[in-house]
Amino acid sequence: MEKFNNILILTGAGISAESGLATFRAANGLWNNHKVEDVATIEAFQRNPQYVHEFYNDLKKELQKAKPNPAHLAITRLQNEYKDANINIVTQNVDTLHEKAGNHNVWHVHGQINQAVCLNCGHIIETFADVDTETICPNCQVQGMMKPNIVFFGENLLYMDKVDNLLRDCDLFLSIGTSGVVFPAAAFVQTAKYHGAKTFEFNLEMTSNNYYFDRHIFGPAGTTLPAFVDEMINSIKTAD
Ligand code: OAD
Repeated sequence: MEKFNNILILTGAGISAESGLATFRAANGLWNNHKVEDVATIEAFQRNPQYVHEFYNDLKKELQKAKPNPAHLAITRLQNEYKDANINIVTQNVDTLHEKAGNHNVWHVHGQINQAVCLNCGHIIETFADVDTETICPNCQVQGMMKPNIVFFGENLLYMDKVDNLLRDCDLFLSIGTSGVVFPAAAFVQTAKYHGAKTFEFNLEMTSNNYYFDRHIFGPAGTTLPAFVDEMINSIKTAD
């Protein structure tokens, strides 16, 4: 395998499936039988903030218990042992399993479950404790303006300037466990490929934007990713 200098890894709910977390589009998906329009839109939050807070407080408890699986740990190994490469992770996941596994350079473009943002002053707090309509912002002291730092449908993704640069610069783009149906993340592969990156997809099945991938690696990421990382690390050892 050739040597890569800038590796961008896009992850979705599928990488956390083997940690026991349901994906979004599975039958008993992560919305826990709630309607997206009741818990994941800014209109829903304006209409009934307490209901939305309760949903994310419950989800937070579930996600806090989860442990990283071999796929997350394979990324840690890649970051530690694939020498001299700049390796970033752009995740659509709001869980914190990448961090728990020791991954670094993680960009949560859809937000993260253990954060809340003040709609009055923009201050972000990090906590696994409940946040609700009574919570006071520690920065501006205004009560009732904290929102889960989750990107709702209709809101901008986070860190997009950074991600645009990473997409332009990467020479290897790995997509792991994402269905590729939610934009703009679904189009990241197209941008990376347009700028010359090799593009590999790890999934159980063919996804709808499969056209942009150079290689498909089918199977559970907890098995396929450690094997792939092994292959990559061995290839640079052999080249040395
Ligand atoms: P999805 O539920 O849409 O897709 C999960 C993908 O992971 C599917 O393509 C599965 O085939 C694959 N998969 C499942 N188990 C796997 C495993 N063990 N190994 C490899 N692949 C596996 O989840 P996302 O693509 O992450 O947005 O969904 C994107 C966004 O849709 C989410 O971030 C969320 C949701 O609306 C927001 O919350 C803003």
